[in-house]
Amino acid sequence: MAKDIPVYDGDMWGRDAILNSRTTDDKIRELAPVVWLSRENIAIMGRYNEVAGGLTDWQSFSNRSRPWHDPNSVRPEILLTDDPPRHTEIRKVMAKVMSPPKLKALTADFERTANDQVARLMARSGEVIDANVDITRPFVHKVLPDLLGMPNEGRENMSAFGHMVWATMGPMNQVFHDALVGSEPVVVWADKSCTRENMRKDGLGEATYALADAGEITHDEAKLLVMTILAAGSDTTVITMATAIRAFCEFPGEWQKLRANPSLLRNAFDESLRWDSPSRMAGRITAKEVTIGDYVLPAGTRTGLLFAAANRDPRKWQDPDRFDIERDLKGHVGWGFGLHSCVGKIMAQLEMEALFGALIKRVAKWESAGEPEWWMTTIGHGPYKLPIRFIAA
Ligand code: HEM
Repeated sequence: MAKDIPVYDGDMWGRDAILNSRTTDDKIRELAPVVWLSRENIAIMGRYNEVAGGLTDWQSFSNRSRPWHDPNSVRPEILLTDDPPRHTEIRKVMAKVMSPPKLKALTADFERTANDQVARLMARSGEVIDANVDITRPFVHKVLPDLLGMPNEGRENMSAFGHMVWATMGPMNQVFHDALVGSEPVVVWADKSCTRENMRKDGLGEATYALADAGEITHDEAKLLVMTILAAGSDTTVITMATAIRAFCEFPGEWQKLRANPSLLRNAFDESLRWDSPSRMAGRITAKEVTIGDYVLPAGTRTGLLFAAANRDPRKWQDPDRFDIERDLKGHVGWGFGLHSCVGKIMAQLEMEALFGALIKRVAKWESAGEPEWWMTTIGHGPYKLPIRFIAA
């Protein structure tokens, strides 16, 4: 007979829980393979096997809905709210827009921007600066809108736009409402900047609209995809690279290892995704009754999958709090896993290789210069501000 699912009465998405998300998420994971959140009336899973299993088994864990998903919401959605066959069709379109050769051709632009920005940064060696605000954000906020072909005007809205998107994917709590204050002009800017007439003709935005001309998607879907790239591709990359710098402050030997062997760069990036995952959780809905060990989830159960907790599950990872750029990372869920795994992975990797490729050559070491200020969103996680010092090589 199925056992009662253990209940957690605490708040996982309030300010305190967000500030201490590591402790909160680990508590859930250690409670049971599946836990019932009484405040939200949803199930949540934090152990590696259950999270990876849920992401793989899309027939049981559908993307058609998820915790807090409101089908009548004004927020338009695509891909993450689709199951096959529609999901497969849209992924095919995305694969055309962002094919590896197309992205690879842009590497020279990424490298040029990274080298320029890092060369200018060197004047600040020894000063207290902010890893997010002064290093990772200016880079991503230039290359991503350039890549899409967005106008230059209004790009200072990118942080506010990303924050608004990531803070409103969770429950409608204070964090959600705070993020909406003053957000209207930001939404108007994003909408206008992703409108075809306002985009350059040689960007990924226009390439997406061209697939609508060819009948592969509708023009509304094309716009939605362009806005999805903007929303999903910006802060995730900014934060992951800032997290990597935080890790190099805490584990200085790993930076020396990377400088000695830059071929470890991709693994180092993935290790920072595992060590402190920027996508804290994903959501699904059970399409049928699902058995998780001794517990049963009825069909129609909205379920959260805690990437961050699974990526630190000691059942899977030895010494999970250690940042180890040579770790075997096969199966980590920092990019998700299975059908919905990150469509922008190659783009993010190319950005990181360009920026860190330049930093490796010029930065001898990183030092922490204070506590991070955490990104106050329900679903995204990581250092929004990160005081550091670097010493030029
Ligand atoms: C380091 C940077 C990034 C991280 C950590 C990241 C993380 C993730 C994760 C965990 C998922 C799976 C979500 C789920 O299963 O519910 C995902 C999906 C997705 N990502 Fe990323 N992402 C990053 C960069 C990007 C970029 C640059 C883009 C721009 C194209 C992007 C676009 C997407 C999209 C559209 C999906 C949905 C895919 C689908 O439903 O099939 N991401 N990402």
